[in-house]
Amino acid sequence: MAYIELRQVTKYFGDVTAVDHLNLTMEHGECLAMLGPSGCGKTTTLRMVAGFEDIDDGEIFVGERCLSSKRKNFYVPPEERNFGMVFQAFAVWPHLSVYENVAFPLRIRKLPREEVEKRTKEALKNTNLLDVASNRPDDLSGGGKQRVALARALAIRPDVMLLDEPLSSLDPHFREEMRFEIKDLQRRLGFSILYVTHDQSEAMALSDRILVMRAGVMQQTGTPLEVYGEPNSRFVFEFVGLSSFIEVAFAEGGMRIGDGVYPWPGGVLPASAIRAAGRGLLAVRPFEIEFRNVDGNKGVPGIVTRKVFLGETIDYRLQVGDKAEIRVQKTRRNPGPAVGDNIKLEFPRPHWYRVDG
Ligand SMILES: Nc1ncnc2c1ncn2[C@@H]1O[C@H](COP(=O)(O)OP(=O)(O)O)[C@@H](O)[C@H]1O
Ligand SMILES: [Mg+2]
Repeated sequence: MAYIELRQVTKYFGDVTAVDHLNLTMEHGECLAMLGPSGCGKTTTLRMVAGFEDIDDGEIFVGERCLSSKRKNFYVPPEERNFGMVFQAFAVWPHLSVYENVAFPLRIRKLPREEVEKRTKEALKNTNLLDVASNRPDDLSGGGKQRVALARALAIRPDVMLLDEPLSSLDPHFREEMRFEIKDLQRRLGFSILYVTHDQSEAMALSDRILVMRAGVMQQTGTPLEVYGEPNSRFVFEFVGLSSFIEVAFAEGGMRIGDGVYPWPGGVLPASAIRAAGRGLLAVRPFEIEFRNVDGNKGVPGIVTRKVFLGETIDYRLQVGDKAEIRVQKTRRNPGPAVGDNIKLEFPRPHWYRVDG
């Protein structure tokens, strides 16, 4: 049995279904990232797991233990769940020292004095805060404050860390640094992480598995590589990376774009259900589009409408057919075409989705 299991977990706020019959499993020691746009139900899910929110349907288990069950009308309060939580905002107490911030949850749990001291020091050491233990959180940078929140969550020696966009208010530099620190702590201390974020690169960098959510509904779960490489819908394709789409009509032996009919790109036929619709959405990653000579017989014609230098990357816009404007990216080491150039494009790794999907 999985270590954490959510079965059909549901939450309504009035007419809004914030979380819709969510099934989720996590193994012990796993880091699962819940990824989705703002408002898709991530925080609500985390709050239900933590016990701050009751559930309108379903059940939540950790280990063999049932924590919430609508059917059995059963509910374990948050302080008996042994989860560490870190939120987006720096939820540290400004009037308490760093030390007291970390010790606080242990004191309310009425642990013996020596145990409070031992665990507080251990958590401060693990987060490199021992030297500033007597400072106020406001003396620290944003990254430092978030580290206090992390230390406080660690001090209870949680089985599971529930992290709700904990890095989103940090500078990009600290954000990357903290990703590594969180991963490193997990490796050393062995807790499981349920990590909520709208940032796909964060989800990829941190997690063993990603669960993509949309409007309260789970869209796909898989390893970062699976979700990035084989998105099961246009939504997931678009959400987990840069994307280019071309709507095409299906003709005998290939796809029609504008006046031309071209062989199936990469030799990949759309699924029969999509073919039956008569048209489909060709989806490609901007880095997985090849430029070909306009005089050659390979590829789909396009014209360069914009070329932007982004440092290591050159970002192109191309007009393809009469409607689609697509994005292509190349490393700067490849000189590439100029604005106004006619060129042909090949799509070696195409994905196909329904136009209305
Ligand atoms: N306490 C609440 N009262 C009413 N609606 C809420 C409440 N909390 C969240 N919602 C709604 O539930 C949906 C999911 O919210 P939330 O879980 O915060 O999303 P996310 O964390 O993914 O941004 C949103 O439509 C939001 O407006
Ligand atoms: Mg949220």
